[in-house]
Amino acid sequence: MPDAALDSRAEARAALVTGTVDKIRAIETEEGLNRDSLEKMRQALVAMAAERELFTLDDFAPPPEGGDMKSTLYRLSEDDDHRFALYANVARAGVSSPVHDHTVWAIIVGCRGQELNRRFDAPDDRSGPPVERDQVMVEDGTGVAFMPDDVHSIHIDGPELVLNFHMYGKGLEQLHGRRFHKPETGEWIVFPAHSDIRDAR
Ligand SMILES: [Fe+2]
Repeated sequence: MPDAALDSRAEARAALVTGTVDKIRAIETEEGLNRDSLEKMRQALVAMAAERELFTLDDFAPPPEGGDMKSTLYRLSEDDDHRFALYANVARAGVSSPVHDHTVWAIIVGCRGQELNRRFDAPDDRSGPPVERDQVMVEDGTGVAFMPDDVHSIHIDGPELVLNFHMYGKGLEQLHGRRFHKPETGEWIVFPAHSDIRDAR
């Protein structure tokens, strides 16, 4: 593909991302954080993901086949104070996370391929184990949203490469108190903040 086409797509994508984040920021500012406002924020992200031609695997290279890394996270947007962090996540089969929380709101919406989200109930003080509530296949046109204490696990096992969007109330590099559940011991363990995030072109 000629560079001019890539460049004009990048420009259109940047405008769409900015408009979407502005919308989501306005919802949170005006309505605060609750399940209703979170649902509106989720819908804004689903609308962005519908512009599939602006988010291709040419724009967001997947992790190399056969390597240890099964997913690559590209930062699309983040405010100067690290709030409203939006990422494109590109992944291949072999991703399976433990049950975990986010400590900030989190939204995942699909664009290409399938990511299974298993949703759990767990005591807010993490005094007991997670209990699975349901499963949602995140794919083109669908998405899930989580309040700060909600817990889930993600699993990618399909033949298709996955491109989806993950958005958080604050950037993943800033989240130092997230916990995951270790089934072997029954403990909830704090895990280190995410690193190795790439900036999208
Ligand atoms: Fe998560």
